[in-house]
Amino acid sequence: MNEKRDGFGSKLGAIAAAAGSAVGLGNIYRFPCLAGENGGGAFLLIYVLIVLCLGIPIMMAEFYIGRRGGKNPVGSVKVLAPKTRWSLLGYVGILAAFTILAFYSTVSGWTLEYIYKALTNYFANKDIATIEAGFSEFHNNPFRPYLWQVTFMGLTAFIIFKGIKDGVEKYTKILMPALFVILIILCVKSLTLNGASEGLKFLFKPDFSKVDGTMILAALGQAFFSLSVGMGALITYGSYICKKDNLSTTSLSVVMTDTMVAILAGVIIFPAAFSFGIQPEAGPSLAFNTLPMIFNKMAGGYFFCIIFFILLAIAALTSTISLLEVIVTFLTEEHGLKRNTATWVGTLVSLFFGIFCTLSLRQDSVFVFGNLTFFDFMDKFSANILLPLGALCIVIFTAWKMGKASFYDEITNQNTLKVAVKGFIFFIIKYVAPFVIIAIFINQIFLS
Ligand code: TRP
Repeated sequence: MNEKRDGFGSKLGAIAAAAGSAVGLGNIYRFPCLAGENGGGAFLLIYVLIVLCLGIPIMMAEFYIGRRGGKNPVGSVKVLAPKTRWSLLGYVGILAAFTILAFYSTVSGWTLEYIYKALTNYFANKDIATIEAGFSEFHNNPFRPYLWQVTFMGLTAFIIFKGIKDGVEKYTKILMPALFVILIILCVKSLTLNGASEGLKFLFKPDFSKVDGTMILAALGQAFFSLSVGMGALITYGSYICKKDNLSTTSLSVVMTDTMVAILAGVIIFPAAFSFGIQPEAGPSLAFNTLPMIFNKMAGGYFFCIIFFILLAIAALTSTISLLEVIVTFLTEEHGLKRNTATWVGTLVSLFFGIFCTLSLRQDSVFVFGNLTFFDFMDKFSANILLPLGALCIVIFTAWKMGKASFYDEITNQNTLKVAVKGFIFFIIKYVAPFVIIAIFINQIFLS
């Protein structure tokens, strides 16, 4: 048991990994889509407020549990509250990791297919109807979606095999800067298109008539998913954070990076859409159908289309590794598996469910219940039920079970750091967050 546990080598490495987990398809694919459907600027404003006020404290609670417990979500809680049922909280997280990984790997696979399509100039001179038809055809292909999904999980497993410092940290430190470079190139391109200012106005000018309960709750759900909070991914990464790092500045950097990427994704998508006369409410097909069509029409589109899908793939990969790591750390610590075996088990089990998600998107698929595909079910079950439930348990556990003294001790590194707003942060974890999460919960169960 005295073997030295792997861990992040530097604070920057820890931030890159956690930001890599947070920045994902949620930022580039889901955020612009929701902002588009919910009136742009007003949604953005509310989203940013939620992320700053609630996101940072909840993230700190997760890092607190992980670093103080020093283990996977189940093990950490067992260390902090021995012989209680609180470790159930950890099991909710493990279940969420499998559930998210299943549908997430489906979409991650698409990004590889679309890199391939972009490279082979598939989109050239095709109209939107043809591109959309191609998307459905792809879903029905008996071979390709599975091939890409398996390939993507293979890449994920390859990094996880190598461990924290030589795997997760090393690769996220390369992939995150690459992601930023691509984002900036695409932003510049989008902003220099004719009519770009209309798109910016849509994204940044709040129209308060659009604000209502449903919209606020949509922003909340998106904030949790995007920040990767609520299931123990950050408990796991927290357990690998060095004891002398500052958890509050780490959380702040992760939250800022995540939010910036979401905003930059909006800055790419809306000006481009407006300048080609596309409605911003285009919905989920925005990234995979509308954008290639827009790229098609612009100078240098071939190149921009390729790097856009590479961007999506990178964002997805740094998120899938965080999800698989949760499972692997859990299996090694709680069930004594070797890291390699745990990686195989985690990958194969999540692929098993993942393949059913992909199968359920075929026309006439049998994995559809009513009008809910298995894919949608896994998406909704995790984002609308498991994550809020997990987040609720995490904040209640931190504030009501563990209490102020333990939390302050950990975030100030045993009173060696000054954290000016710790009282405010604790107040939010104890009183505001539980109330707000219960509100989202009730809303999502009854309104969706
Ligand atoms: N945050 C990622 C995104 O925005 C998805 C993700 C990765 C996630 N790990 C998570 C979501 C853990 C919730 C919990 O795409």
